[in-house]
Amino acid sequence: MTEKIKHLKTVHNAIILAHYYTLPEVQEMADFVGDSLALSIEAAKTTADVIVFAGVCFMAETAKILSPDKRVLIPDLAAGCSLAESCPADAFGKFRAQHPGAVVVSYVNTSAEVKALTDICCTSSNALRVIESVPAEREIIFAPDRNLGAYLQKQTGRRNMILWDGACHVHEQFSLEAILELKKQYPDAPVLAHPECPQPILMVADYVGSTSGIIAEAGRNPAETFIVVTESGILHELNERYPGKRFVPAPGVDSTCGCNDCRYMKLVTLEKIAAALETGGPEVEVSEEIRVRAEKSIRNMLEIS
Ligand code: 13P
Ligand code: SF4
Repeated sequence: MTEKIKHLKTVHNAIILAHYYTLPEVQEMADFVGDSLALSIEAAKTTADVIVFAGVCFMAETAKILSPDKRVLIPDLAAGCSLAESCPADAFGKFRAQHPGAVVVSYVNTSAEVKALTDICCTSSNALRVIESVPAEREIIFAPDRNLGAYLQKQTGRRNMILWDGACHVHEQFSLEAILELKKQYPDAPVLAHPECPQPILMVADYVGSTSGIIAEAGRNPAETFIVVTESGILHELNERYPGKRFVPAPGVDSTCGCNDCRYMKLVTLEKIAAALETGGPEVEVSEEIRVRAEKSIRNMLEIS
């Protein structure tokens, strides 16, 4: 499969971009692995003709918005995102209309249509910088993640943020009790958490940051064991980079359900990547009217990053 994909990539002048939450073999096959911000930047600058996005649909859409002349393939069209789905564009448009003076900041985990209703996009890597770039007196609508929004409110002390009530099914289900148990078991292990986790979990975390932030912190921090509170796919990169350290994944409320796996990210397999390269589909399309407006909000973010 690996040889087949390498051959198809050369034939089609294609690049494979993968998120840290994808399967280990997918990350190993990729030309570039990153968090959602790094993947957007990479998608904007690649010279390849074809981008195979090993991740979820909103990430592939972002690549298409930034590189409309390239073919962007998503190995499985069912790779959605519960967070993006928690913010339908029509309802969001009405919400926005209720706050006409507000600056709209949306997490990249949104559809192209929601990005088109947004002033500045952000990711978990740059959300703080983006919020701080908005003049203090301006009201901010923040969508769609209520947990990241509440975390940003707390960090910046801003009272004038209106939060959309969305969440991610993976980060919502972590168990505070189970994390407190792990802390007893590994008293010297720092807790590294993604800001999509609910506030009680972020309050017991030693470090809160994006996937790339968590990976960097695990390298900086001299501890030998870490409790990791985000999607399980990140363990691959952590173990690859720091073979001498131990990473303990935080369990969910139901420790038997495997629910710290993002079911959408795990839909991307090597077989589907090969099939996408072979058939040239499924291809991501965004209407030009939506694309132009969505691009502005992403470019506004990239300028701040
Ligand atoms: P990052 O911004 O850390 O890549 O996170 C993306 C994501 O989907 C988190 O659930
Ligand atoms: Fe979306 Fe959550 Fe999966 Fe990230 S982990 S892609 S936010 S469903």
